[in-house]
Parts: sequence; C-alpha cells; structure tokens
Amino acid sequence: MESFVDVFLFGKCYSVPDNLTIMGAMEYAGYQLVRGCGCRNGFCGACATIYRIRGDRELKVCLACQTKVENNMYVATLPFFPLIKEGFELEKVSPDVSVMMQLYPEIYACVGCNACTKSCTQGLNVMQYIAYAQRGDFAKCAEESFDCVMCGVCSSRTSGCRRSGTESSRICSPRSCRSPWRN
Ligand code: SF4
Ligand code: FES
Repeated sequence: MESFVDVFLFGKCYSVPDNLTIMGAMEYAGYQLVRGCGCRNGFCGACATIYRIRGDRELKVCLACQTKVENNMYVATLPFFPLIKEGFELEKVSPDVSVMMQLYPEIYACVGCNACTKSCTQGLNVMQYIAYAQRGDFAKCAEESFDCVMCGVCSSRTSGCRRSGTESSRICSPRSCRSPWRN
C-alpha cells in the first residue's frame, strides 16, 4: 500500500507519496515546473533546492530531482544568485596564479569555513579544488571539480566566495558566523 508524507511546498502543506523526489512531489501537488528544472537526472544543476525538516535547526541543500521527500519537509527552491562569470580568451591568458588573481580575486577571500564542501550536492571537496585554483594547479583543480554540475549551492552558502564577498569576508569567520546556513 502506498504511504504518504506531509511536505510543505512554498509554505503550503501537501500529502504526497513517500517514494517521490521533491521535484516529483511538486508536480504531484500541481506545480508546473518551468524554471529550476532541466535534465531531471542530476546532471544540469538547475534544480538546487533548500529544505528543513520540522524540528531540525539545520537548513539542507540538495538537487530536487535526486532527493526523496521526507515527512515534515519544508521546501523552497534556491533563488537566482547574481554571480559573475568572467569572460576570457583561452589563448590569451597564461595558465598561472596571476590569472586567477585577476579573474577570480574572490577565491583569495576564503576563510576556510568549509561550508562549500559540506553543501556540495555532488559530494565534491570544493574547498580543496578552490585551493588548487588559488595555487595555480589547474590540472588538479580540473580533476577534483570534474563532476561539478554548476548548481550554485556552494556559492550560495559562502559569503567570502562571491565577487562582492571580499568585504563581507572581513566580518565573516567560522567562529563569528551567525548565518542560518552555517552547519
Ligand atoms: S561544486 Fe558547487 S556548483 Fe559544483 S556541484 Fe558542488 S555545490 Fe554545485
Ligand atoms: S533537473 Fe537537472 S540536476 Fe535536477
């Protein structure tokens, strides 16, 4: 016999079969997914989602197409984050540390809180591959980050690693952090 769980989608409670993914539950509840939905197979990174289980303090992140619903799960999709993607011509840049400092200075504002690694929906060691990038070890960086689906979850959880983060990182440290994102 089919079992049901209560999930809260955008603040409204729905009873849905417990074998559904979050994405499946949204459609079961009648939502038509026109944004935040792509491959449905964990590859495109379009369905980054946050949730909290009632009674738990922690906010969790996941891919909605890959994560099963749980009872008393409060779900919201991740909003657009205004990240900057630098453009450059591969033939015209030198593969060394200076180009990282020039194109991605925010990665040098890392305070080592490891929130990016803890949140990665693919289980990647994000802080480590960013450390490789900082040092100009691009081969190791590429190897460690190969399975990244660019869902943006790690960026959403790290105030020091955005283009505007240089300033916020001065007041944000693992010990002083009051962010609800902090584990
Ligand atoms: S490294 Fe960041 S963007 Fe890539 S899959 Fe992990 S959380 Fe998503
Ligand atoms: S829809 Fe593509 S990763 Fe979820």
